[in-house]
Amino acid sequence: MTPLIVANWKMNPTSREEAQRMIVETERAAAAGCEVVLCPPFVFLDKAGVILEGVKLGAQNCSFQEEGSLTGEISPRMLKSFGVEYVIVGHSERRTIFGEGDGTVNQKVKSVLRNGLLPILCVGETAKERDEGKTEETIERQLTKGLDGAEGETIVAYEPVWAIGSGLPCDPETAEKARTLIERKTGSKRIIYGGSVDPSNAREYIEKASFSGLLVGGASLDTDKFREIVEICESI
Ligand code: PGA
Repeated sequence: MTPLIVANWKMNPTSREEAQRMIVETERAAAAGCEVVLCPPFVFLDKAGVILEGVKLGAQNCSFQEEGSLTGEISPRMLKSFGVEYVIVGHSERRTIFGEGDGTVNQKVKSVLRNGLLPILCVGETAKERDEGKTEETIERQLTKGLDGAEGETIVAYEPVWAIGSGLPCDPETAEKARTLIERKTGSKRIIYGGSVDPSNAREYIEKASFSGLLVGGASLDTDKFREIVEICESI
């Protein structure tokens, strides 16, 4: 299966000039043997859509509704009209900082699917849940509720919350256990790993833990590092 490598820029960079430069550099990560997706902040999607050719376009979030009176929200229908193909849903920063529960995440997954886009549903346990032995229970709940009534292909990203932005990546054996659970529960073959991915550990998630791709946060802001990650995945 072609590896899927997703760059999640989060709330970076902070100027259009910087964004333009980084989009051009990210396009150089386009690789024949990988599916590379860039998820920039909403305000840079238009520019990215114009510049990118070999790299696909993704969004970091979206509304659960197509249109209407929801101040500050961006709908999947709008995203589609900008050439977006993928939408990250239920990222842990949305869940913990913005209080998105499994019900909201589920509505978003369905809305993304209704609009013919591919959801990337993020699941994963917090450090507390891990320490209390609730990793499996957490992942199962997030999948059951998040995918309830959802029809269509969904990509699942296993992102242990404690590994995100911490520089403490999950070891491949533990990640593989979560991947197996997700595969058993959803039947999905497209399961990717995220959480402190960099060029030094990218290979093991694909090779050892059998993930079909990676969700890269911090390291995707360094476009050389990101290109290196893509090259490593392409070489496997
Ligand atoms: P990170 O972020 O690679 O900086 O840990 C991953 C993510 O949150 O998507």
